[in-house]
Amino acid sequence: MKAIIVQPPKPGIEFVDLKQPIRHGNGAVKVKILENGICGSDREIVKGRLTTARPPAGKDWLVLGHEALGAVEDSVDPRFKPGDLVMPINRRSFEGKCLNCLVGRPDFCEAEEYVEAGMVGMDGFMIEYYYDDPKYLVKVPAEIKDIAILAQPLSDLEKSVEEILAIQKRAIWTCDDATYNCRRAAVFGTGATGTLFALLLKTYGFEVYMINRRDPLESEAAIAEEAGLIYYNYAKDGLDKLKRMRFDLVIDTTGGSASLIKDEVEMLKPNGILGLFGFPSEGEAVIPYDVFQRFIYKANVIVGLINGQKPHFQLALLHLAQWKAIWPGVTKRLITRVISINDEKEVIKALSEKERGEIKVKIKWD
Ligand code: BGC
Ligand code: ZN
Repeated sequence: MKAIIVQPPKPGIEFVDLKQPIRHGNGAVKVKILENGICGSDREIVKGRLTTARPPAGKDWLVLGHEALGAVEDSVDPRFKPGDLVMPINRRSFEGKCLNCLVGRPDFCEAEEYVEAGMVGMDGFMIEYYYDDPKYLVKVPAEIKDIAILAQPLSDLEKSVEEILAIQKRAIWTCDDATYNCRRAAVFGTGATGTLFALLLKTYGFEVYMINRRDPLESEAAIAEEAGLIYYNYAKDGLDKLKRMRFDLVIDTTGGSASLIKDEVEMLKPNGILGLFGFPSEGEAVIPYDVFQRFIYKANVIVGLINGQKPHFQLALLHLAQWKAIWPGVTKRLITRVISINDEKEVIKALSEKERGEIKVKIKWD
């Protein structure tokens, strides 16, 4: 069966024909892959720069891909029937020695023993078909087949919002009408993560700023308009204005310079929280003592946001269905490119660099 493999830390990818089937857990469900999504983490692996990437034990390669939509081809588990659309969960507990792993939450693995499909010690999903454990499969409604691939990246953000709201239970964070309508959120970065985060926070009732250091592209302006988001170009209008406006919630999805973190800290209101999603790829955050003093006085929080699990995949699918109904123009713009798996040159290109205006690129297998 055809597959895309990588050999971290070596850069590059290879198209191969695997003879041995790939099985995870009890392997009760045979899954035929229909689509894969590409994200920044895949590109970091392909560039040989993701330091956490490693093959499964005993091998020197792994199948790439952690975003996938599949169809059940065969199943010995009565809960899954041939033809059902399914999505695999990418992070899994390894031997379940950690308490969080034992209750299905390897996103909070304390033993650092988890595996991640297509990244950390586990074969991924850029493969014609494979066998999976029902525990790690989520059913996908056919009504949102066109945008369902977004549920994996969105699951990370569903978990992030759940976590942020849990942290903020430390004080009263809802408004005098019991909603989040009086809370202002800033999302730095307008790629897939930034756009999905902005839409999700809007869904929760926040006033949301989408922030980048350039004017919006036509598609970004259209998304902001339809979903009621406010686009802000800080190269033109400055970070100081944002610091004066002050935000209850700031989210960094830029994957750029760590130096932005200092400015983001300075934007926080009392009780405000800064969520770091995506890994800074350069620079350092130098935070002077006076900024730290204000951070402490304001009871601020900085939290690292990582990985969603099964409940978050399920919520992500429901939110995608909701968005398709209320923001039809927006959801049509979220998949910016579809490439056939047979177009190997284009697949390699898409796995190497991000296109201008890209939100989500998907590879189609059928
Ligand atoms: C995935 C997450 C994963 C993270 C770290 C992201 O691309 O969407 O689910 O935990 O990479 O490997
Ligand atoms: Zn990803």
